[in-house]
Amino acid sequence: MKIENGSYEGAKTIALTNKSGMTLTLCALGAGIMSIKVPDRDGISREVTRLADSGYAKEYHGLTIGRTSGRIENATFEIDGKTAKLEKNNHGVDNLHGGKDGFHGKVFSVAVNSAAEYTDVVFGYDSPDGEGGYFGNVKLAVTYRVYENENKITMSFDATPDCKTLLDLTNHVYWNMSGDLREPVTDQTVYINASRVGRLNERLIVVDIDPVTPQFDFRKPRKMGEYITDESVQRHTHGYDHPFFLDGRGLDKTACSLYSKTSGIKLEVKTTYPCVVVFGDNFTGYKSTCFECQYHPDGIHQCPDDCGICTPEKPYAETTEYVFTVK
Ligand code: GAL
Repeated sequence: MKIENGSYEGAKTIALTNKSGMTLTLCALGAGIMSIKVPDRDGISREVTRLADSGYAKEYHGLTIGRTSGRIENATFEIDGKTAKLEKNNHGVDNLHGGKDGFHGKVFSVAVNSAAEYTDVVFGYDSPDGEGGYFGNVKLAVTYRVYENENKITMSFDATPDCKTLLDLTNHVYWNMSGDLREPVTDQTVYINASRVGRLNERLIVVDIDPVTPQFDFRKPRKMGEYITDESVQRHTHGYDHPFFLDGRGLDKTACSLYSKTSGIKLEVKTTYPCVVVFGDNFTGYKSTCFECQYHPDGIHQCPDDCGICTPEKPYAETTEYVFTVK
Protein backbone atom coordinates (compact mmCIF):
# COMPACT_ATOMS: atom_id res chain seq x y z
CA MET A 1 0.00 0.00 0.00
CA LYS A 2 1.32 3.41 -0.90
CA ILE A 3 0.40 5.92 1.83
CA GLU A 4 0.66 9.69 1.44
CA ASN A 5 -0.03 12.06 4.30
CA GLY A 6 -1.25 15.60 3.82
CA SER A 7 -3.57 18.16 5.34
CA TYR A 8 -6.78 20.01 4.55
CA GLU A 9 -7.77 23.11 6.52
CA GLY A 10 -5.49 21.97 9.34
CA ALA A 11 -6.86 18.41 9.47
CA LYS A 12 -4.86 15.34 8.47
CA THR A 13 -5.49 13.67 5.11
CA ILE A 14 -4.28 10.30 4.06
CA ALA A 15 -4.24 8.84 0.54
CA LEU A 16 -3.95 5.08 0.17
CA THR A 17 -3.18 3.46 -3.17
CA ASN A 18 -3.47 -0.32 -3.42
CA LYS A 19 -1.89 -2.75 -5.89
CA SER A 20 -5.12 -2.86 -7.93
CA GLY A 21 -4.90 0.83 -8.81
CA MET A 22 -7.49 2.25 -6.40
CA THR A 23 -6.75 5.42 -4.44
CA LEU A 24 -8.87 6.33 -1.43
CA THR A 25 -8.27 9.76 0.11
CA LEU A 26 -9.58 10.25 3.64
CA CYS A 27 -9.68 13.27 5.93
CA ALA A 28 -9.74 13.54 9.73
CA LEU A 29 -12.25 16.40 9.41
CA GLY A 30 -15.56 14.52 9.46
CA ALA A 31 -13.71 11.17 9.27
CA GLY A 32 -14.67 11.33 5.65
CA ILE A 33 -13.99 10.34 2.07
CA MET A 34 -12.46 13.12 -0.04
CA SER A 35 -11.94 11.05 -3.16
CA ILE A 36 -12.07 7.54 -4.56
CA LYS A 37 -10.33 6.81 -7.84
CA VAL A 38 -10.63 3.42 -9.52
CA PRO A 39 -9.50 2.20 -12.94
CA ASP A 40 -12.21 2.09 -15.64
CA ARG A 41 -12.43 -0.73 -18.18
CA ASP A 42 -9.58 0.85 -20.18
CA GLY A 43 -7.40 1.13 -17.08
CA ILE A 44 -7.83 4.92 -16.85
CA SER A 45 -8.09 6.11 -13.25
CA ARG A 46 -11.49 7.76 -12.68
CA GLU A 47 -12.99 9.75 -9.81
CA VAL A 48 -16.25 8.06 -8.75
CA THR A 49 -17.36 10.40 -5.96
CA ARG A 50 -18.62 13.97 -6.10
CA LEU A 51 -17.72 16.72 -3.66
CA ALA A 52 -19.88 19.81 -3.19
CA ASP A 53 -18.92 22.65 -5.55
CA SER A 54 -17.91 24.63 -2.46
CA GLY A 55 -15.40 21.92 -1.50
CA TYR A 56 -14.83 19.18 1.04
CA ALA A 57 -16.66 19.47 4.38
CA LYS A 58 -18.73 22.46 3.25
CA GLU A 59 -21.81 20.25 2.86
CA TYR A 60 -22.30 16.58 3.80
CA HIS A 61 -20.42 15.03 0.86
CA GLY A 62 -18.26 12.09 1.94
CA LEU A 63 -18.61 12.85 5.65
CA THR A 64 -19.50 10.70 8.63
CA ILE A 65 -23.02 11.57 9.79
CA GLY A 66 -24.05 11.30 13.45
CA ARG A 67 -25.05 10.98 16.10
CA THR A 68 -28.07 10.23 13.92
CA SER A 69 -28.62 10.15 10.17
CA GLY A 70 -31.67 11.51 8.41
CA ARG A 71 -34.73 13.10 9.98
CA ILE A 72 -35.99 12.59 13.53
CA GLU A 73 -39.52 13.92 13.88
CA ASN A 74 -39.84 16.90 16.24
CA ALA A 75 -36.10 16.73 17.03
CA THR A 76 -36.62 14.89 20.25
CA PHE A 77 -36.66 11.36 21.64
CA GLU A 78 -36.72 9.62 24.97
CA ILE A 79 -34.94 6.53 26.29
CA ASP A 80 -35.54 5.28 29.85
CA GLY A 81 -36.87 8.64 31.00
CA LYS A 82 -34.01 10.69 29.52
CA THR A 83 -34.99 13.20 26.86
CA ALA A 84 -32.79 14.33 23.98
CA LYS A 85 -33.50 17.80 22.64
CA LEU A 86 -31.87 18.11 19.23
CA GLU A 87 -31.37 21.02 16.91
CA LYS A 88 -34.46 21.75 14.80
CA ASN A 89 -32.69 22.12 11.47
CA ASN A 90 -35.40 20.57 9.28
CA HIS A 91 -38.14 23.16 8.62
CA GLY A 92 -37.53 24.42 12.14
CA VAL A 93 -39.27 21.31 13.47
CA ASP A 94 -37.24 18.13 13.05
CA ASN A 95 -33.59 17.17 13.32
CA LEU A 96 -31.54 16.36 10.20
CA HIS A 97 -28.18 14.56 10.29
CA GLY A 98 -27.53 15.32 13.97
CA GLY A 99 -27.62 19.11 13.54
CA LYS A 100 -24.75 21.51 12.93
CA ASP A 101 -22.83 20.11 15.91
CA GLY A 102 -22.78 16.67 14.26
CA PHE A 103 -19.83 14.40 13.58
CA HIS A 104 -19.47 15.78 10.04
CA GLY A 105 -17.75 18.86 11.51
CA LYS A 106 -15.50 17.17 14.07
CA VAL A 107 -11.76 16.63 13.72
CA PHE A 108 -10.99 12.98 14.53
CA SER A 109 -7.75 11.41 15.73
CA VAL A 110 -6.05 9.18 13.15
CA ALA A 111 -4.20 5.86 13.47
CA VAL A 112 -2.93 3.69 10.63
CA ASN A 113 -2.43 -0.08 10.99
CA SER A 114 -1.01 -2.09 8.13
CA ALA A 115 -1.28 -5.83 7.54
CA ALA A 116 -0.25 -7.89 4.50
CA GLU A 117 -3.66 -7.91 2.83
CA TYR A 118 -5.03 -4.55 3.93
CA THR A 119 -4.43 -1.25 5.72
CA ASP A 120 -6.79 0.15 8.36
CA VAL A 121 -7.26 3.85 8.96
CA VAL A 122 -8.96 4.35 12.32
CA PHE A 123 -10.57 7.69 13.08
CA GLY A 124 -11.41 8.29 16.74
CA TYR A 125 -13.63 10.83 18.47
CA ASP A 126 -14.96 11.17 22.02
CA SER A 127 -18.36 12.81 21.95
CA PRO A 128 -19.28 14.40 25.28
CA ASP A 129 -22.61 14.03 27.06
CA GLY A 130 -25.02 16.68 25.79
CA GLU A 131 -23.26 17.31 22.49
CA GLY A 132 -25.86 18.19 19.86
CA GLY A 133 -28.55 17.64 22.51
CA TYR A 134 -27.91 13.86 22.77
CA PHE A 135 -27.21 12.18 26.10
CA GLY A 136 -24.29 9.95 27.13
CA ASN A 137 -20.57 10.11 26.53
CA VAL A 138 -19.75 8.16 23.38
CA LYS A 139 -16.38 6.80 22.27
CA LEU A 140 -16.51 6.48 18.51
CA ALA A 141 -14.22 4.79 15.98
CA VAL A 142 -14.73 4.90 12.23
CA THR A 143 -12.43 2.39 10.55
CA TYR A 144 -11.73 2.29 6.82
CA ARG A 145 -10.10 -0.97 5.69
CA VAL A 146 -8.53 -0.76 2.25
CA TYR A 147 -7.65 -4.07 0.64
CA GLU A 148 -4.40 -4.50 -1.26
CA ASN A 149 -5.37 -6.86 -4.08
CA GLU A 150 -9.02 -6.01 -4.69
CA ASN A 151 -10.82 -2.71 -4.98
CA LYS A 152 -12.74 -3.06 -1.77
CA ILE A 153 -13.23 -0.66 1.16
CA THR A 154 -14.85 -1.74 4.41
CA MET A 155 -16.15 1.00 6.68
CA SER A 156 -16.94 0.09 10.28
CA PHE A 157 -18.66 2.19 12.90
CA ASP A 158 -17.87 1.13 16.46
CA ALA A 159 -19.07 3.12 19.43
CA THR A 160 -19.31 2.59 23.14
CA PRO A 161 -21.60 4.82 25.20
CA ASP A 162 -21.47 5.20 28.99
CA CYS A 163 -25.28 4.90 29.21
CA LYS A 164 -28.09 3.66 27.02
CA THR A 165 -28.39 6.03 24.06
CA LEU A 166 -29.17 6.31 20.36
CA LEU A 167 -26.75 6.24 17.44
CA ASP A 168 -27.40 5.90 13.70
CA LEU A 169 -24.15 6.43 11.84
CA THR A 170 -23.60 6.59 8.10
CA ASN A 171 -21.34 8.05 5.46
CA HIS A 172 -22.79 10.58 3.03
CA VAL A 173 -20.61 9.97 -0.03
CA TYR A 174 -22.08 10.95 -3.43
CA TRP A 175 -21.40 8.45 -6.26
CA ASN A 176 -21.16 8.74 -10.02
CA MET A 177 -19.80 5.65 -11.72
CA SER A 178 -19.16 7.22 -15.13
CA GLY A 179 -16.00 8.73 -13.64
CA ASP A 180 -15.31 12.46 -13.59
CA LEU A 181 -19.07 13.14 -13.79
CA ARG A 182 -19.32 12.40 -17.50
CA GLU A 183 -23.03 11.55 -17.34
CA PRO A 184 -25.87 12.08 -14.85
CA VAL A 185 -26.58 9.23 -12.54
CA THR A 186 -30.07 8.89 -14.07
CA ASP A 187 -28.32 7.18 -17.05
CA GLN A 188 -26.66 4.63 -14.75
CA THR A 189 -27.99 1.24 -13.73
CA VAL A 190 -29.22 0.80 -10.17
CA TYR A 191 -30.06 -2.30 -8.17
CA ILE A 192 -31.60 -2.16 -4.67
CA ASN A 193 -32.45 -5.31 -2.74
CA ALA A 194 -35.61 -3.82 -1.23
CA SER A 195 -39.29 -4.65 -1.56
CA ARG A 196 -40.38 -1.89 0.84
CA VAL A 197 -39.87 1.86 0.79
CA GLY A 198 -40.64 4.70 3.19
CA ARG A 199 -43.63 6.96 2.53
CA LEU A 200 -42.68 10.59 3.25
CA ASN A 201 -44.63 13.64 4.33
CA GLU A 202 -43.93 17.18 3.13
CA ARG A 203 -41.04 17.54 5.64
CA LEU A 204 -39.61 14.21 4.38
CA ILE A 205 -40.39 12.44 7.63
CA VAL A 206 -41.15 8.74 7.13
CA VAL A 207 -44.85 8.27 7.93
CA ASP A 208 -45.27 4.65 6.82
CA ILE A 209 -43.62 1.84 4.92
CA ASP A 210 -45.15 0.67 1.63
CA PRO A 211 -44.45 -2.20 -0.75
CA VAL A 212 -42.47 -0.84 -3.71
CA THR A 213 -44.44 0.28 -6.75
CA PRO A 214 -42.67 -0.03 -10.15
CA GLN A 215 -41.28 3.50 -9.65
CA PHE A 216 -39.42 2.36 -6.53
CA ASP A 217 -38.67 -1.21 -7.56
CA PHE A 218 -34.98 -1.67 -8.35
CA ARG A 219 -34.85 -5.39 -7.65
CA LYS A 220 -34.17 -5.93 -11.36
CA PRO A 221 -31.28 -3.58 -12.24
CA ARG A 222 -32.52 -0.66 -14.36
CA LYS A 223 -31.75 2.95 -15.19
CA MET A 224 -32.09 5.18 -12.17
CA GLY A 225 -33.87 7.75 -14.34
CA GLU A 226 -36.58 5.51 -15.78
CA TYR A 227 -39.37 6.97 -13.63
CA ILE A 228 -37.59 10.08 -12.39
CA THR A 229 -40.24 12.50 -13.71
CA ASP A 230 -43.11 10.44 -12.24
CA GLU A 231 -45.26 12.31 -9.74
CA SER A 232 -44.70 9.63 -7.08
CA VAL A 233 -40.94 10.11 -7.32
CA GLN A 234 -41.06 13.91 -7.52
CA ARG A 235 -43.64 14.54 -4.75
CA HIS A 236 -42.01 16.47 -1.85
CA THR A 237 -38.52 15.21 -2.81
CA HIS A 238 -37.90 16.18 -6.48
CA GLY A 239 -36.39 12.76 -7.10
CA TYR A 240 -35.26 9.84 -4.96
CA ASP A 241 -34.72 10.76 -1.32
CA HIS A 242 -36.30 7.72 0.27
CA PRO A 243 -35.39 5.00 2.75
CA PHE A 244 -35.42 1.58 1.10
CA PHE A 245 -35.88 -1.27 3.58
CA LEU A 246 -33.55 -4.10 2.64
CA ASP A 247 -34.68 -7.68 2.11
CA GLY A 248 -31.98 -9.06 4.36
CA ARG A 249 -28.82 -7.53 5.72
CA GLY A 250 -25.22 -8.65 5.95
CA LEU A 251 -21.92 -8.50 4.11
CA ASP A 252 -22.69 -11.70 2.19
CA LYS A 253 -25.25 -10.00 -0.08
CA THR A 254 -25.48 -6.90 -2.22
CA ALA A 255 -27.73 -4.22 -0.74
CA CYS A 256 -27.49 -1.99 -3.80
CA SER A 257 -25.32 -1.33 -6.81
CA LEU A 258 -24.60 1.34 -9.39
CA TYR A 259 -23.08 0.77 -12.84
CA SER A 260 -22.07 3.00 -15.73
CA LYS A 261 -21.66 1.44 -19.11
CA THR A 262 -19.60 4.48 -20.19
CA SER A 263 -16.77 3.63 -17.79
CA GLY A 264 -17.64 0.00 -17.12
CA ILE A 265 -17.26 0.67 -13.39
CA LYS A 266 -19.66 -1.00 -11.00
CA LEU A 267 -20.07 -0.25 -7.30
CA GLU A 268 -21.60 -2.85 -5.02
CA VAL A 269 -22.67 -1.85 -1.51
CA LYS A 270 -23.05 -4.44 1.24
CA THR A 271 -24.17 -3.60 4.74
CA THR A 272 -25.19 -4.89 8.14
CA TYR A 273 -27.81 -2.10 8.34
CA PRO A 274 -31.51 -2.69 7.62
CA CYS A 275 -32.04 0.35 5.41
CA VAL A 276 -30.45 2.43 2.67
CA VAL A 277 -31.54 6.02 2.08
CA VAL A 278 -31.14 6.78 -1.60
CA PHE A 279 -30.67 10.50 -2.24
CA GLY A 280 -30.27 11.27 -5.94
CA ASP A 281 -28.61 14.70 -5.69
CA ASN A 282 -31.96 16.12 -6.75
CA PHE A 283 -31.06 19.77 -7.01
CA THR A 284 -28.07 19.43 -9.36
CA GLY A 285 -29.74 17.59 -12.25
CA TYR A 286 -28.94 14.22 -10.66
CA LYS A 287 -25.19 14.51 -10.92
CA SER A 288 -24.66 11.72 -8.39
CA THR A 289 -26.41 9.57 -5.83
CA CYS A 290 -25.94 8.72 -2.17
CA PHE A 291 -26.60 5.29 -0.69
CA GLU A 292 -26.78 6.08 3.03
CA CYS A 293 -26.74 2.73 4.79
CA GLN A 294 -28.32 3.22 8.21
CA TYR A 295 -31.27 2.39 10.45
CA HIS A 296 -34.80 3.67 9.79
CA PRO A 297 -34.13 7.42 10.12
CA ASP A 298 -36.99 7.92 12.58
CA GLY A 299 -36.68 4.40 13.99
CA ILE A 300 -36.51 5.65 17.57
CA HIS A 301 -40.20 6.61 17.22
CA GLN A 302 -41.36 4.02 14.71
CA CYS A 303 -39.44 0.78 15.33
CA PRO A 304 -37.55 1.22 18.63
CA ASP A 305 -36.54 -2.45 18.72
CA ASP A 306 -34.31 -1.98 15.67
CA CYS A 307 -33.13 1.63 15.58
CA GLY A 308 -29.53 1.85 16.81
CA ILE A 309 -30.01 1.99 20.57
CA CYS A 310 -26.76 0.87 22.21
CA THR A 311 -25.54 0.41 25.76
CA PRO A 312 -22.16 0.05 27.53
CA GLU A 313 -22.74 -3.73 27.49
CA LYS A 314 -23.93 -3.84 23.90
CA PRO A 315 -21.84 -1.29 22.00
CA TYR A 316 -22.68 -0.07 18.52
CA ALA A 317 -21.09 -2.04 15.68
CA GLU A 318 -22.16 -1.76 12.05
CA THR A 319 -20.28 -2.21 8.78
CA THR A 320 -20.76 -1.12 5.18
CA GLU A 321 -18.60 -2.34 2.34
CA TYR A 322 -17.93 -0.84 -1.10
CA VAL A 323 -16.64 -3.12 -3.86
CA PHE A 324 -15.60 -1.85 -7.30
CA THR A 325 -15.36 -4.04 -10.40
CA VAL A 326 -15.29 -3.36 -14.15
CA LYS A 327 -17.17 -5.07 -16.94
C1 GAL B 1 -29.86 13.45 2.54
C2 GAL B 1 -31.27 13.83 2.82
C3 GAL B 1 -31.66 14.86 1.80
C4 GAL B 1 -30.72 16.06 1.90
C5 GAL B 1 -29.28 15.58 1.83
C6 GAL B 1 -28.30 16.67 2.11
O1 GAL B 1 -29.46 12.45 3.42
O2 GAL B 1 -32.11 12.71 2.76
O3 GAL B 1 -32.98 15.25 1.97
O4 GAL B 1 -30.96 16.73 3.10
O5 GAL B 1 -29.05 14.57 2.74
O6 GAL B 1 -28.33 17.64 1.14
